[in-house]
Amino acid sequence: MATYIVLLGPPGVGKGTQAVVLAQATSLVHISSGDLFRVNIKNQTELGKLAKSYMDKGELVPDDVTIAMIRDRISQPDCKAGVIFDGFPRTPKQAQALEKMLGELGGHVDVVPYITADEQVLIERTGGRWSCRAQGHVYHEKFNPPKEAGVCDVDGSVLYQRDDDKKETVANRIHVYFEQTMPLVDYYHKAGKLIEIDGAKSMEQVTSDLLAALKK
Ligand code: AP5
Repeated sequence: MATYIVLLGPPGVGKGTQAVVLAQATSLVHISSGDLFRVNIKNQTELGKLAKSYMDKGELVPDDVTIAMIRDRISQPDCKAGVIFDGFPRTPKQAQALEKMLGELGGHVDVVPYITADEQVLIERTGGRWSCRAQGHVYHEKFNPPKEAGVCDVDGSVLYQRDDDKKETVANRIHVYFEQTMPLVDYYHKAGKLIEIDGAKSMEQVTSDLLAALKK
């Protein structure tokens, strides 16, 4: 049976970083709703134009559009063994839609690692993040610098800072997270699926805590 993991946590806590490592350690596919939107923005699709108008303000893209995008992605053959969701669901409506979609595939959300850190940590991490243009590999100028400044170690493409990592936008993203996504902590806790992970630790330590918790 397929395994479905939802990584929950505030902006910049390290969901994407950990999802990449978890996907390498398992046969699961990493699906990041933010990355899917960014690919659409890069390709200048209608979805990308719509998503950008929300993302630039640090607001959530409307549920219906987001749910349709995820529905399409999880129906691809590479998702058969399961998925690590990063950044989705983000609202109660999205969580309910996900249960329905996975139910249709004969599965359900198995476990929800909830990665936490205080606001100062989130601001420092988003402020120092650099991402690669070609494939979205993520670095941090202090905690995970590339070998050569401004160049991706993996594919040699240029590194850039995300528009929505500007200070004011990050502040709104954190506000939106508390307002619209926090109810999911309670939702998954009540469902007995939540495991809390201290995301303020080093990347390696968070990975090892996550793997240990998932083994249980
Ligand atoms: P999205 O791209 O999902 O952003 P986010 O959830 O705000 O999360 P981030 O990507 O900012 O952070 P992360 O937790 O993945 O951290 P990372 O590993 O990169 O969403 C962007 C926007 O798209 C939203 O605002 C919204 O508009 C839209 N959107 C997306 N999904 C949506 C949805 N479901 N519904 C509606 N709208 C949606 O790490 C951050 C930095 O810290 C990196 O530089 C990394 O190297 C570093 N780092 C990571 N871990 C550590 C560590 N342990 N120690 C030190 N540094 C670390």
